[in-house]
Amino acid sequence: MNDQLLGRVTDADLGPVICVVGARPNFMKMAPILRAMAAHVPALPVLLVHTGQHYDKDMSERLFEDLRLPTPDVNLEVGSGTHAVQTAEVMRRFEPVVDAYQPSCVAVVGDVNSTLACALVAVKKNVPVVHIEAGLRSYDRAMPEEINRILTDQIADRLYTTERTAQDNLAREGIASHQVCFAGNVMIDSVVFGRANARSVSHTLQACHVDPGVIRHPLGMGVVTLHRPSNVDHPDSLRALLGVLGEVATSLPLVFVLHPRTRSNIERFGLTDLIDPARMVLLPPQGYLEMLGLMAEATLVLTDSGGLQEETTALGVPCLTLRENTERPITVEQGTNTLVGRNREAILGAVKDILAGKGKRGRLPELWDGHAAQRIAADMYPWLKQRQADMASRLRVL
Ligand code: UD1
Repeated sequence: MNDQLLGRVTDADLGPVICVVGARPNFMKMAPILRAMAAHVPALPVLLVHTGQHYDKDMSERLFEDLRLPTPDVNLEVGSGTHAVQTAEVMRRFEPVVDAYQPSCVAVVGDVNSTLACALVAVKKNVPVVHIEAGLRSYDRAMPEEINRILTDQIADRLYTTERTAQDNLAREGIASHQVCFAGNVMIDSVVFGRANARSVSHTLQACHVDPGVIRHPLGMGVVTLHRPSNVDHPDSLRALLGVLGEVATSLPLVFVLHPRTRSNIERFGLTDLIDPARMVLLPPQGYLEMLGLMAEATLVLTDSGGLQEETTALGVPCLTLRENTERPITVEQGTNTLVGRNREAILGAVKDILAGKGKRGRLPELWDGHAAQRIAADMYPWLKQRQADMASRLRVL
């Protein structure tokens, strides 16, 4: 056991909860869970494992600082690879951690490769799996995340959902309702936590040696992120999207925060000329507080990220999602999100509406209130104790 675990008065009957993070969108989901567990169930020991799926300072360390995440107890340092290689490598390196710590459960968040890989290791060792942000479905199996979501939910023992449609999706896949708990959205806990400390756009631009004057405009500025393989891994799709963004930029200056995958593909496909630096500022991946500031000050956001769809709904900023579908339908039905795909007319039409003041303002979905992690922590401890009691009585019968 590490010092952190030894130094605390812990529930002697329960092994630690292993909390897994791997890639950028996991960090904002796990940070509030760790805080809530420390505050509300301090007797429950926790071990933080970082798989190292994301490893650049800008993709990982900086977010740990912004979200006040503790240094991971274990870093598996898997790095990048094909889906098979990355998933297999996480599994190979995570198994000895489970063996060494004998956890009471493994808690995973979201839908990245690390989520599925660690859940698979745990379930094969009869360690219960807790999935936070369960039941979201895009019904698009070409998305690697959709496969990760379906499979993780199938092997999870306790499933926490962010919106009510998730429970219906899970029921359709045969998951018993007593395993599912509607807890709200931990992503929004982090928005509430970070909002007051969000960095101003001018601060962010200056830190990147960009003159904030470039984006000064009567209509404000738009923020862009793109990283889905379906949008950025094919030259034709990426070229088409950069072309439309160029058109948008003629009426609204854009700040484009580039994922490493996107930056390298723009260069590899020879598309750099499609970006007019006078109208579109390119930034490297940003910290959490910088992204919050950029979104909060934006007139609109253009993105293919799941997290940004939710964060813009929480911030009341119109969001145009450059995808045909979303696994987060509540952001469209109640929030500020509109699906526009890669359709030029749809994108330009929606931008025009927003600039004319007709953008969605939306409302906050149920339980997106900053207390989701608290509800999860409050549920998880009695659930683990009950599970332990059930196992003990089953053993007595045998
Ligand atoms: C992963 C998740 C995706 C999530 C996204 C957020 C899966 C299947 N995908 O996609 O759901 O929305 O994270 O960013 O898990 N790279 C770096 N530095 C890093 C990490 C990655 O340069 O720290 C580059 C590498 O070239 C790597 C590529 O980005 O090959 C893709 O990284 P990877 O983790 O495989 O997938 P993401 O596209 O980031």
